[in-house]
Amino acid sequence: MVEQTGALNAFGPGKVILLGEHGVVYGRPALAGALSWGVSARAVPSRRCRLLVPGAVRGAGRKLLLSAFARAAAITGQPPVAVSVESDLPPSMGLGSSAALAVACAKVLLEAAGRKPMPRAVAEIAEVMEKEFHGTPSGVDHTTSAQARLIHFRRRPGARSPTVRAVHSPRPLKILVALVGQRSPTRRTVQRLRERRERWRGRYDRLFDEIGRLADEGARAVEAGDLEALGDLMNVNHGLLSSLQLSSGGLDEMVYRLRGLGALGAKLTGAGGDGGAVIGLFWEPEPVMARLSREGIRCFTSQVGGPRAL
Ligand code: MEV
Repeated sequence: MVEQTGALNAFGPGKVILLGEHGVVYGRPALAGALSWGVSARAVPSRRCRLLVPGAVRGAGRKLLLSAFARAAAITGQPPVAVSVESDLPPSMGLGSSAALAVACAKVLLEAAGRKPMPRAVAEIAEVMEKEFHGTPSGVDHTTSAQARLIHFRRRPGARSPTVRAVHSPRPLKILVALVGQRSPTRRTVQRLRERRERWRGRYDRLFDEIGRLADEGARAVEAGDLEALGDLMNVNHGLLSSLQLSSGGLDEMVYRLRGLGALGAKLTGAGGDGGAVIGLFWEPEPVMARLSREGIRCFTSQVGGPRAL
C-alpha cells in the first residue's frame, strides 16, 4: 500500500499449523492457517536498498537477518528503499515469525520494484529468506503467510513447489494460542527428529503417514463445518506428536488445561520440543483468554478460517 509520503507498507501474518507439523517435512500434507497477528514492514525512499534492523536484534540474529534481506533485495533488483519492520508476534514460539517477516519484506520490496506482490512471487522470495533462517524448511510457514488464509499444503519429496489449496470454512474457526516458554530452535528439533527417523524409519514413517491422513481429514471436516471432528483430529495429532517425542511436560499440561476449559481440541503447534505454543479450538475463546490472562498465562485469540477471518 502506497502512502502520500511515498512510503510503502505491507503485512506478513504469522501462522498456526492446525494439523500436520513435522510430517510435512517428509512430504505429508498439513492444514495451516494465517493469524491476525504478524509482522509489518515499511519502506521509505533511500539512496540504497537496506534493512533497518530493530535495535533488540543483535549478534548472530542480526547477521542472519541482514544476509536474508540481502538475498531478497538482490532478487528484486535492489529497489532504493530503507525497510523497517515491526512485529506483534512472539518470536521463536512456533508461530512463524521469521516467515511473517520474510513475507512482509518480500511484499514491500516487490512493490518498491514496481511489481505486484502476488502470493506466488512473494512466497518464492520468502522461501529464499526462510532457507537462510532455517536450512531446509518444508515451506508451510511462508506459504501460509503469503496466502494469508487457511490452506491444505503438501510438498512431495523432490518437488520444486508445493501443492496448495485454499480450505473454506463455512463456520468461524476460532483458536486460542497459549505460550508455554522458550524452546530450542526449529532447526535443532527437526534435526533430532531426523536422526530418530533414520534409526527407526519404518515406525516413524507410519506415524508420519497417519499425521498426513489427519490433515486430509481435517480439511474435509473444516469444509463440512464439523468443528467437533476437527477438534478430535487435533487431539489425536497431539498424541502422535507426543509419541514422536515432540511434546514436553509444560506443553502437555497446557493441552490438558485447554481441553478442561472446553476446547473442542488442543495440541502443540509448530516445531514443539521443550516449549513453544499450544492451540485450542473453541466456539468462543475470549472468556478462556480472559481467565488464563488473569492467571498470568500469555495467550491471545485469532480467527483462522471462516467468515471474516484475517
Ligand atoms: C514449523 O513451523 C513446522 C515444521 O513442520 C518444520 C517445517 O515444516 O519446516 C516443524
